[in-house]
Amino acid sequence: MTTSYDPQDSTDHPGAKPAPTRHPVRPVIRDRWSPRAFADEPVDSADLDSILEAGRWAASSFNEQPWRFIVATKDEPEAYERALAGLNEFNRKWASTAPVLILAFARTTFSKTGEANAHARYDLGQAVAHMALEATPRDLFIHQMAGIRPDHIRETYDVPDEFEPVTGIALGHWGRPERIPEDMREGERAGRSRKPHDELFFDGGWGEPRS
Ligand SMILES: Cc1cc2nc3c(=O)[nH]c(=O)nc-3n(C[C@H](O)[C@H](O)[C@H](O)COP(=O)(O)O)c2cc1C
Repeated sequence: MTTSYDPQDSTDHPGAKPAPTRHPVRPVIRDRWSPRAFADEPVDSADLDSILEAGRWAASSFNEQPWRFIVATKDEPEAYERALAGLNEFNRKWASTAPVLILAFARTTFSKTGEANAHARYDLGQAVAHMALEATPRDLFIHQMAGIRPDHIRETYDVPDEFEPVTGIALGHWGRPERIPEDMREGERAGRSRKPHDELFFDGGWGEPRS
């Protein structure tokens, strides 16, 4: 069972893990997190369309839009199993609770010149970040995965050489930790943390904390 998202009161959501921010941020940033346990409830197809659309409108170097996505839902079990097999063993254990799996690819060369696009993966990440933020107010969560089987994915989908399988993405409504193996449940309940500001933001020179 899921509860709908209310940005004013979203910390009441049973799956809420609001970021303990030092400065105020929009609720959509605060409330995004990466669950491993997803509910059985399917993702509404209009929500899925809007989440993909948000990715489409991300910025990219030379507007190359190097991202490509294979989207598989549990409504189509064969396609879903194919996508699931593209994940590594650890990720398969929990990601199989998600009603939607997405495989994400980056075109590593520019389509016009054939030259290397050093920012292709950066752009892909930005597109996925857009998707994650579009998902949050829809009471949906995204969990990205580096743990994929790139060679297996290449072979399964006959991926053209200029495209690189980069990540997998699980998408769905938050689910209770009991949905995933016991040794993974503690992480679902754990608090969220980040490096301190002075390690991340510099002022004037390298390593000089901004704060
Ligand atoms: C590019 C990328 C790769 C990731 N790979 C995995 C993965 O293979 N398996 C996994 O369980 N989590 C993976 N994560 C999730 C991160 O561990 C998670 O985003 C991080 O701990 C911060 O937590 P939060 O997203 O809940 O804020 C990945 C996240 C990103 C952005």
